[in-house]
Amino acid sequence: MATNKFYDLDEELGEILISAEAIQKRVKELGDEITRDYRGKNPHLICILKGACVFHADLMRAIGLGISVDFIAVASYGSATRSSGEVRILKDLDESIEGKDVLLIEDIVDTGLTLDYLLKNLSTRRPNSLRVVALLSKPSRRLIPARVDYMGFEIPDKFVVGYGLDYDQRYRNLPYIAVLKKEPEGGARS
Ligand code: PRP
Repeated sequence: MATNKFYDLDEELGEILISAEAIQKRVKELGDEITRDYRGKNPHLICILKGACVFHADLMRAIGLGISVDFIAVASYGSATRSSGEVRILKDLDESIEGKDVLLIEDIVDTGLTLDYLLKNLSTRRPNSLRVVALLSKPSRRLIPARVDYMGFEIPDKFVVGYGLDYDQRYRNLPYIAVLKKEPEGGARS
């Protein structure tokens, strides 16, 4: 029998902000748009681990072109220095991006610090082009302007989980985006 339960976690979650159906529809639209824009090219899709892994996996299958993929993992230097924008690379790309048409895939843009660091870092590696795809954006939390070329949804300042996004490494496997009932202090993702 169909059930809405997900590992008995429902009591910890508030409203479903974006349904699984709405996400899949938007991912298809973004895939179609990218397919049109990159006609004749082979975009290189870089997944920012871990949060973007689900979006990355779905988006690449919505793109009707030959693509390649790579993965990068980053972490901020902790809350005390977070506003300084210091980010460290935990796992770097496996391959050079020189001459490639890079699409940087992010699950959520919050303060914009992670994206700003990565765009500066990757642009020194001489890609042919470098654009950003973000599933979610919280414009009200921005500390630094962030350029997002393909945007899924703008959302209010609520702590959300699911579809790759975690709280304390949990909830990444929810097929929808839900609001956490008890918001962590500060509201920052990390
Ligand atoms: C989240 C998210 C972005 C970043 C956005 O990652 O995936 O990479 O925070 O925040 P910012 O705009 O304020 O920099 P997180 O550090 O939670 O790691 P994770 O992807 O491994 O969950």
